[in-house]
Amino acid sequence: MKTTKLVMLVMTIAVGLFILIPNLSWAADDGASLYKTKCSACHGADATGKPAAKIPSLVSDDAKKLSDDDFAKKISDTPKHPGTVKSTTPDQAKLIVTYVRSLQK
Ligand code: HEC
Repeated sequence: MKTTKLVMLVMTIAVGLFILIPNLSWAADDGASLYKTKCSACHGADATGKPAAKIPSLVSDDAKKLSDDDFAKKISDTPKHPGTVKSTTPDQAKLIVTYVRSLQK
């Protein structure tokens, strides 16, 4: 009897974690929150940049013309980008590019 209850408890926790964990990692890795933590301090929450500080807009006509690949490359290639930005993984860069495209519309 006791063992059955324990098994049930362990099963419940296991199932709960299965549901929770993928959702948690998704939340940390969606384009909007990645942009917010890695880019918005410089390029602004609306991605219009800060002309006074020579930080380019990411929603300008020039930025719209960049292909997704070129845009993603700029993230790791731009000399003025700090290490935390350059260390963006290719998968994260794709998510960020998709998010910035949604701001460009
Ligand atoms: C520390 C401030 C800072 C952060 C954080 C930052 N950037 Fe930048 N970014 C800059 C500056 C400054 C430039 C212009 C560099 C130059 O003129 O050489 C730039 C340039 C760019 C460009 C090239 C724009 C163009 O028209 O050529 C892109 C694309 C870009 N950043 C995207 C991002 C993305 C995406 C992130 C987040 C992952 C990010 N940046 C985070 C400061 C920042």
